[in-house]
Amino acid sequence: MARAALALQAGNLVAFPTETVYGLGADAENADAVARIYSVKGRPTDHPLIVHIESADRMGDWSSDIPTFASALARDYWPGPMTLVLSRSKLAEDFITGSQESVGLRVPAHPLALALLQEFVKVGGRGIAAPSANRFGAVSPTSAEAVQEELGQFLGKEDLILDGGPSLVGVESTIIDCSGELPKILRLGAITKEMIEETTGLMISGHSAANPSPRVSGSLDSHYSPKAKVLLDVIAEAGDGLIAPDQIPTPHGVIRLMAPATNEQYARDLYRALRSADHQGLEVVVALQPGGDGLAEAIRDRLQRAAHE
Ligand code: TXA
Ligand code: MG
Repeated sequence: MARAALALQAGNLVAFPTETVYGLGADAENADAVARIYSVKGRPTDHPLIVHIESADRMGDWSSDIPTFASALARDYWPGPMTLVLSRSKLAEDFITGSQESVGLRVPAHPLALALLQEFVKVGGRGIAAPSANRFGAVSPTSAEAVQEELGQFLGKEDLILDGGPSLVGVESTIIDCSGELPKILRLGAITKEMIEETTGLMISGHSAANPSPRVSGSLDSHYSPKAKVLLDVIAEAGDGLIAPDQIPTPHGVIRLMAPATNEQYARDLYRALRSADHQGLEVVVALQPGGDGLAEAIRDRLQRAAHE
């Protein structure tokens, strides 16, 4: 951890596990290091980055005018799979926010991520900028091996990949815009609309395709895509991969990629299954979407983007 913190301080990149997906980290105050994140990912530079902080106590470093409902969300769900978009402070420069007046903040719950953030504070760091550690538009990595596969060839000798085992949530954090009067969900995740309403006592405008912000790359119609073609809710044919809840049998000749018993398992294993389809060279993956609200909505959101051409 000490070595990784020093690598960040020296301007190198450190990929690290979080409970959602693996992130590709850089010192959030170092413009050159952050520029390398964009080139390694192949990501447009006007897409802002999430700044990861060690605890909610540091929100004030990076943001200003924090509304009461945002503090309540931070209290209830950090460390955890939630990103808050807040009015930025001077520390959050244009190279982090994509020149927007807001900044995304998150305290991740993975013990290795927290340990890295704490070590980074010891060497004077204040935040780690980290997008998901995949090439732009590709499936987010939920293991260190997947990071190596996505980005290994683009990383330098001084960059590091930390291995913290498989990510247990498996889909990216819920992003909540807290820069307006009411919280607004920009990206669905494991922190659900119901949880946000319960904590804040506010009715929130749900995530909608009507939110046009092109700056949330996860809101692009096509994202999280494997090489295989993803078809939703059709009957799988011989040679196809199949992702479906465990009570659905596997038709003859179909390659079962996962059979989750719960939505939690569905979310946790989804990206691993999509990756495995590509490893096996499958041309088609059929996914049967889970029903219901909460986490199931986040899973359907990712499946629909993976299926979009
Ligand atoms: O679970 C996660 O959130 C993972 C882990 C590594 O923390 N990170 C992640 O980062 O998914 P990324 O960059 O792949 O997706 C973050 C999304 C992007 O679509 C970005 O445009 C959006 O968050 N975002 C960041 N700051 C924002 C802001 N100030 N306003 C609106 N959207 C923002
Ligand atoms: Mg991403």
